[in-house]
Amino acid sequence: RRHFVKLSAGSVALPMVLQNCMFHDRDGNAGILDTGFDRPLPLPEEAGASLDLNPASQRTSILEGKTTSTFAYRSNILGPTIRAFRGEMLIASVQNALSEPTNVHWHGLKVPANMDGNPVDIVKAGESFQYSFPIDQRAGTHWYHPHPHGATARQVHTGLAGMLIINDDEELALGLPAGYFEVPLIIQDKRLKAGKLVYDPSMMETMAGYFGQTITVNGVVSPFHEVQGRWYRFRILNGSTARVYNLALSPNLGMKIIGSDGGLLGAPEDVNEVLLGPGERLDVLVDFSAEPVGSEVYLESKKFNGGSSQGAESFKIMKFIIGASSGDTFQPPGSLSVIDKIPENQATKVRNFEINRMGMMGSGAMHTFNGKSYKRGRVDETVKAGATEIWEFDNAGDEIHPIHIHAVQFQILSRTGGRNGIIPSEKGWKDTVLIFPKEKVRLIMTFPDTPGGFVFHCHNLEHEDDGMMLNFEIV
Ligand code: C2O
Ligand code: CU
Ligand code: CU
Repeated sequence: RRHFVKLSAGSVALPMVLQNCMFHDRDGNAGILDTGFDRPLPLPEEAGASLDLNPASQRTSILEGKTTSTFAYRSNILGPTIRAFRGEMLIASVQNALSEPTNVHWHGLKVPANMDGNPVDIVKAGESFQYSFPIDQRAGTHWYHPHPHGATARQVHTGLAGMLIINDDEELALGLPAGYFEVPLIIQDKRLKAGKLVYDPSMMETMAGYFGQTITVNGVVSPFHEVQGRWYRFRILNGSTARVYNLALSPNLGMKIIGSDGGLLGAPEDVNEVLLGPGERLDVLVDFSAEPVGSEVYLESKKFNGGSSQGAESFKIMKFIIGASSGDTFQPPGSLSVIDKIPENQATKVRNFEINRMGMMGSGAMHTFNGKSYKRGRVDETVKAGATEIWEFDNAGDEIHPIHIHAVQFQILSRTGGRNGIIPSEKGWKDTVLIFPKEKVRLIMTFPDTPGGFVFHCHNLEHEDDGMMLNFEIV
C-alpha cells in the first residue's frame, strides 16, 4: 500500500485504470467460475449464548478435492451460528490461537463500547478476552467478525465470520419455519489458486475491493441443498469483503422478505430480486411446494446497474434440489411486527458526510469521509447519549459503499439520486446501507444512552482497511 501511495501521489490517472481491472484478479481472470454444484451445503454447528471462540489457523476443503489453510473460530472455517434469546447474557471466551492480533465485533448488536470489538480493543496472539453483555434488542439476524484495523478484510476472507441469531417471543409467536426448515446462508466470494485460499490484493484492489471469482456458501464452493416441497426460511448474510449480490431464484419462485439487518419488517415484502451488500442480512421465506420433485432451483445473483463498479455479470450461487412435499400447512403471516417510525422532528442534529476517494494525497488515505480517514484515538464526532440524529451520506464518487454504523439500528428516511427511493428490504431497521454512485442517503437513529467510543465505516472491507472509517464518541 505504501508503495502505491508513492506511485499515486500527484497522479490522477490510476483510478481510470482501476475501472478496467475491477473484475479481474492479478492473473487476469474475469468472471465467476461456476463449479459443479455437487457438494452438500454444510450447516455451521449451533452454539448458545455462552461459548468459546478460538480463532486459529485450520485446514479445510473449500473446493472439492483440494485442501487449503484457513482461519476459523472453531471447526475448520467460519464459526458456529450463535443463537441467543432476548434477555440472555452473551458470554464469549475468546482465546486467540492465531499468530496475529484479532478481536470480535458483534455486528448489529447493541453492546457496551468496551465489548464492541473496536479496532483499538485488540486480543493479541496467544491472549484471551471474555466478551460479556446482555442481549437487549428484538429478534434479528446478525453476525460476528474481526475488526483489527488494516487486517479486517484479510481475516474475514480467510474464514473468520459467523452468524448470530437473536430470538424473542414476538418472533416465536409467528410460527415461522424452524429447525431443518430454517437455513443460514453465509455468502462470500473467495479467491482460490489451485484450490488454495489466497488474499493477495493488488495495489488497486486494496483500494477498490477484492473480488473473488468463486462464490462460497457456508464455506464451500457452489453447494447444493436438498429441500422438501414446502416453505423454508433462509437467513442470508453477505459476508463478502466487497461484492454486492442481486439475489434471485431461477426459475423465478419469488421471495418474501420478512426481515433485514435489525429484525422483522412490518409485513412481508414480495420481491423477485433483492440487493444485498457486504455486511447486510436478509430473512426470507421461499415456497418450494409448486416445484416438481427432482427439479432444481438456483439461487443466483442477477446483473444490476451498479454504476461503474459492480453488477456487470449474472452468476449462480447455489442449487436447491426439490424433494417430496411434506404436507406443510404453514401460511406466511400477513403482518409481522410494528416498526415505529422515528419522527424527523425528534432529531436534534443533522450531520453530513461527503464520501470521497483519493483525498489527502500522500497520507495513505484513499477513501475518506469529509476528507478524513481513520485515525485511532481521534474523536471525529461527538454525540449526546440518547440523542436522535439524522446522518446524511453523499456519494459523489463512482463506487458502491455499504455504510455501517456501530451501536445503533437506524431507519432510512430517503435516498435521492442514483436509484432514488428505498427498496423493500430497507423498510425496517438497518445497520448497513448500500449507497450507489451519485446517491445521497438520509438516516435517522437514536443513540444508546450509555457513553463510549464507537466507529462507523464503509463495510467494503478493503475500503475500511484503507481508512474509510471514523470514530464517534457518545457522551
Ligand atoms: Cu461488520 Cu464495524 O463491522
Ligand atoms: Cu458492526
Ligand atoms: Cu466504500
